[in-house]
Amino acid sequence: MSVLEPTPPTPDEIDAIVDAHANRPGALLPVLHALQERIGWLPDEAVAQVAERLNISRAEAHGVVTFYADFRRAPPGRHVVRLCLAEACQARGGTAVARAAERRLGVAMGETRADGHLTLEPVYCLGLCAIGPSALVDGAPVARLDAAGLETIAEAVGA
Ligand code: FES
Repeated sequence: MSVLEPTPPTPDEIDAIVDAHANRPGALLPVLHALQERIGWLPDEAVAQVAERLNISRAEAHGVVTFYADFRRAPPGRHVVRLCLAEACQARGGTAVARAAERRLGVAMGETRADGHLTLEPVYCLGLCAIGPSALVDGAPVARLDAAGLETIAEAVGA
């Protein structure tokens, strides 16, 4: 089960997250990560507030959010399956696993199912290269993914 908190943070909560990181150089990235950890995604209004508090332009903050694949601009599903599509996992069959995952889980890579049950996302290296193809299922690492492992994941997330 996903542990993401779906309730958007209040403006005061956003200010508190910014204040916790504001004195660090390059505060924007840790603030955005903390915000996404809090609610699972980055609403435009929240990013705008962060930009204002950090004294940077909205365009700069928006550019960072859209540049990094780790940041979500829409709410994730209740379960999140992240499959590694980086080179080492691809060399171990990761591309075929990803295609099979799309079919079995009923959602395209990078999308959330219409019923909000599940998000399937790419990730680029989990540090498990030697035992790939690798994935994170609701934050838990999974290695040596094959058809049987994919079925176990599908059952675990109720797909
Ligand atoms: S390339 Fe997939 S875990 Fe490193």
